[in-house]
Amino acid sequence: MCGIIGIAGTTETSERLIDGLKRLEYRGYDSAGIAVLQEGELQRRRAQGKIRNLESVVRDEPCDGPLGIAHTRWATHGKPSTSNAHPHAFGGVAIVHNGIIENFRELREELAQKGHNFESETDSEVIAHVIAYYLGKGLAMKEAFREAVNRLRGAYAVAAISKDNPDQLYGARRGSPLVIGRTETESFLGSDAIALAEWTRRVIYLEEDDWCMVTPTEVEIYTMDGKRVERPEQVSNATPGFADKGEYRHFMEKEIYEQPDAVGRTLSNYIDPVERRFHSANLDGWKSTSRLLGSACGTAFYAAATSKYWFERYARLPVEVDIASEFRYRSPVLLDSDRAFFVSQSGETADTLAALRYCKASNVPTVAVVNVPESSIDRDADTTLFTYAGTEIGVASTKAFTAQLTALACVAAGAAQARDELSANEIGDLIDGLLEAPRMLNEALEKVSDVEEIARSLSKASDVLYLGRGQFYPLAMEGALKLKEISYIHAEGYAAGELKHGPIALIEEGTPVVVIAPYDELFEKTISNVQEVAARGAEVILITDRKGAKLAVDDASAIIEIPECHPVIQPIVAAVPIQQLAYYTAVLKGTDVDQPRNLAKSVTVE
Ligand code: G6P
Repeated sequence: MCGIIGIAGTTETSERLIDGLKRLEYRGYDSAGIAVLQEGELQRRRAQGKIRNLESVVRDEPCDGPLGIAHTRWATHGKPSTSNAHPHAFGGVAIVHNGIIENFRELREELAQKGHNFESETDSEVIAHVIAYYLGKGLAMKEAFREAVNRLRGAYAVAAISKDNPDQLYGARRGSPLVIGRTETESFLGSDAIALAEWTRRVIYLEEDDWCMVTPTEVEIYTMDGKRVERPEQVSNATPGFADKGEYRHFMEKEIYEQPDAVGRTLSNYIDPVERRFHSANLDGWKSTSRLLGSACGTAFYAAATSKYWFERYARLPVEVDIASEFRYRSPVLLDSDRAFFVSQSGETADTLAALRYCKASNVPTVAVVNVPESSIDRDADTTLFTYAGTEIGVASTKAFTAQLTALACVAAGAAQARDELSANEIGDLIDGLLEAPRMLNEALEKVSDVEEIARSLSKASDVLYLGRGQFYPLAMEGALKLKEISYIHAEGYAAGELKHGPIALIEEGTPVVVIAPYDELFEKTISNVQEVAARGAEVILITDRKGAKLAVDDASAIIEIPECHPVIQPIVAAVPIQQLAYYTAVLKGTDVDQPRNLAKSVTVE
């Protein structure tokens, strides 16, 4: 989603602003722009589409100066276009904004009556107008900025500069993250620490409802009511070199191959492999919990939905999982002994954060399963259980998903131990199974040529069904989501048993049906469903293990074999061919795999 960069510098900033935007590209965007203060005048350059378009605009019409702001926009109000691209400017003020200003119509009408002309269809433009309005009333920039942000309703991170304050960069945060970066001689603003990592690791995270004024050498942070506050400076571990695809064609491909490492790192933070036991933090609080409520969005939701099977099966704990945007608006009944968990790669997803805050307001203990330390969800949750996938750039989540599954499987097994639901031998068996995951993932990755072959036929399809039973049902939905996201082929994931209640009507001669069924106690039932669709002409692509493959050899048009492994890691291992199928199909279709149309990596609006 929208990305923000700001520099209060001592040397020229244009090139650096654009470099910073490139590090935010992974969030997803549809236009980009910069504004710099050049010899006392604001200069703006904007372009629809990729950052290279902006670069060519700046090349054709150069602008530069030591104070500047920059933005990648993901359209919410107003179509992607140059005039809707940020920065927006009015009355000597330029702003960039991430989020949604809910009362923008009201403010716009008020200012239009006072003679302000608006040039875009965005909600964001009004911010520049409100600041300019207060400047026009004689307030200094600092007061004008504070008055203006106090008028805004909604969620936002904002950065602003004004032509009369050549060394001052302003920022404010409500609902969307904003980070200050510092060196001895310059200050920065960024949507995340990654964006600033090339220049500095010294960061200060603005807290909810903070605003700031930074100059090259000073940082002042205030609350909305104008109280000066101090926020701790930290050393971020974001790395500037992450944006390197290495030998791979796409970040998504690289990230698929990083899964054995991501899962291994995550495992080692939950399990002591020598002692074959869970680290103690994993065991806290489970005895007094009588129900678990999970909320998340997108791929993270499917990780949460998979964990329901583990918590119920191993820890005998009732679990409800919700799509975060549904959770808080369905007036859920929260009980004293509930515990709520929230799964998020970015830790910034607005709906997941809102669900967390809803639970916190009802005093339900909250646990976050998050990949990005210091993200809003990490900071707001009572407890954070991290995943260690490293930075994920591809919009379609891969290694973050398997790292989430890994952490959740460890937590479910830890809960089983803490609740005395499994014997020491059973726990030992689960731990052994979990510890095999990196090796099994490596083996699964080696089947890539089989997958590439099948992707060829999938790339010609217009509809694909994904089926799974039990713990593979959420993975079927994740498989369909992956394919939709990056290849733009329509796909649906169904519970295999539900097929005959409707989706079977979609089957025609040649319809591809991807069935995820490693051998388990439900295998025979799923194979009956395979026979039902095969009898109606479907091309069944079966993802199974050796035992399953032997039993179903006559029922499927193609089989992708994954290694035989402990049931608890089957969904983690089966995720590999699911991701590869989507990836190679998308490559064949020539889509923008890492930044698919209309999607954002981190969705910071509701
Ligand atoms: C977006 C991304 C998905 C991601 C979802 C939830 O839709 O494109 O890949 O699964 O948000 O994001 P989160 O950061 O909360 O895991």
